[in-house]
Amino acid sequence: MSITVRVPAKVNVQLAVGPARPDGFHDLANVFLAVSLYDEVTATPADSLRITCEGPDAEQVPLDRTNLAARAAELLAARHGIAPDVHLHIAKDIPVAGGMAGGSADGAAALLACDALWGTGASRAELLDICAELGSDVPFSLVGGAALGTGRGEQLTELPLGGTFHWVFAVADGGLSTPAVYREFDRLTPDAPVPEASPALLEALRTGDTTALAGALANDLQPAALSLRPSLADTLAAGTAAGALAGIVSGSGPTTAFLVKDAEAAESVAAALIASGTCRTARAATSPAPGARVLTA
Ligand code: C5P
Repeated sequence: MSITVRVPAKVNVQLAVGPARPDGFHDLANVFLAVSLYDEVTATPADSLRITCEGPDAEQVPLDRTNLAARAAELLAARHGIAPDVHLHIAKDIPVAGGMAGGSADGAAALLACDALWGTGASRAELLDICAELGSDVPFSLVGGAALGTGRGEQLTELPLGGTFHWVFAVADGGLSTPAVYREFDRLTPDAPVPEASPALLEALRTGDTTALAGALANDLQPAALSLRPSLADTLAAGTAAGALAGIVSGSGPTTAFLVKDAEAAESVAAALIASGTCRTARAATSPAPGARVLTA
């Protein structure tokens, strides 16, 4: 028997970052939106814990215990006093190390898949608790839709969404290290204010107003990502020149996200971004997207 779980990528439509805390993390007001790019994680009984991965960037995915999918299996197994003997196969479509929570997505998906495979019957609260232990973005991968993350981003309040948003994601060559981007943020922003969600942005989400959302997109990590990867400015310029309503670095980057009017605009902006030579590839997607879900049992 195997269990397959499908899990979405995310974009941060607002990422407000406060000063570094004593524990090294940053307090955030992090508005997450799940988008329709998905990884699938399949859990199959095995003699020991094993990870495999297929997909465009599979060779960049760690297959050892640092993979959040492996850590998810170990944490769930330890809590229930069982051995984490499972083969986790990741079919990867979310850009690797791209600021779209691909690793977090695999952690949430593996957790749900192992829970179903092992019959551990973890409650939603227990699953969310393990997700928060795995990483700041992992609870959102489980929940999907739209949510405000506070604390280090792991304390979620689900947000109402009034419509569909169309996106184009420009995938860069190579990844950016999230801790390195936060360190650069600290260097560039010695007096970061307390982070707060923007009322205009929350209203744009609630009413499904694409133009208003385009005007409210904000990412405090963007100057840091641009400082470490100046060529992202060319990608942002190419997307807006191609007709995107707004462009933003996704999370800690280097993926850039472009909000567009409709599916037709998404196609033409994606084609123009690819033709511009400022990114490796470009992908159209929509939000909202559901959180991690079991596909087969
Ligand atoms: O929680 P996660 O393991 O995904 O975080 C990865 C890194 O990103 C942390 O080690 C930290 O450097 C940085 N981070 C942060 N503040 C947050 C979330 C992440 O500084 N709220």
